[in-house]
Amino acid sequence: MEEINYIDIFEIKKRLKGPFAGKNLYYEERVDSTNTLARDLASKGVKNGSVVIADCQEKGRGRNGKFWTSPCGCNIYMSIILRPKFTPETAQGMTILAAVSVADAIVEAASLQPQIKWPNDVLIGSKKVSGILTEMSTQNMTIEYMVVGIGMNVNIPEKDMDDNIKNIATSLLIESEKTNGSNTLIDRNRLIASILNKFDKYYEMFLSTGLSSVLGYYQKYFGMMGKMIEINVKDRRVEGQVVGIDSKGALLLKTGENELEKIVSGEIYF
Ligand code: BTN
Repeated sequence: MEEINYIDIFEIKKRLKGPFAGKNLYYEERVDSTNTLARDLASKGVKNGSVVIADCQEKGRGRNGKFWTSPCGCNIYMSIILRPKFTPETAQGMTILAAVSVADAIVEAASLQPQIKWPNDVLIGSKKVSGILTEMSTQNMTIEYMVVGIGMNVNIPEKDMDDNIKNIATSLLIESEKTNGSNTLIDRNRLIASILNKFDKYYEMFLSTGLSSVLGYYQKYFGMMGKMIEINVKDRRVEGQVVGIDSKGALLLKTGENELEKIVSGEIYF
């Protein structure tokens, strides 16, 4: 019989240290999408910092309308509901916060070396281990609520990975086997609590000193400096060398001798 590490909200709750993220936890074994359920709960008024977790998703959603493969019993699918007072333009920072929180939690849980592919893919080597989908509802230029959805491949073994993502995606278990020869399952409850604790810490930092202090932590994992990339920005493709990230989290690309382009969102191709 295969070993399973069950999600147990009491195990998660007892490890939460911060004042905010996850104090209200909603767990469902199977949902369409934790982001969809979180949006639904948010529109009904649940508290700032509430978190929705599921063991599997039937219609897991990725960025740009893609499907997020979400099998049962092995990975993390969760969505944090926020009701921030800042402007929609500032909201991009939440994705940065979530990416650093995920990367920190991976280091703590598995002693692996994650990298962040701007803005919010977390990779190990060249393969994606975690993705973040941030959605928001606005009214009259103010944020009604935001949902920060985090998907992470944790204990899925290589043999169970979908063929269409095998060459671009990995899991913590696969990478731990490769680097430390360890095939011990990673405790998803600890990992979820760790992500939420980190998120709490960076959210506090963001509220008190702004995104630039969080970016200092983001830079540790930012593996793209100096690289030549191509990026799809709406309907045009921009090519250039990555020279940094600005104080609002936008990517800075050197596109010509004296030309610098600031990219707020887009899909990168190396
Ligand atoms: C990406 O394309 O990189 C983003 C993937 C985000 C997946 C997570 S899983 C939990 C939450 N619920 C969803 O339907 N999507 C996000």
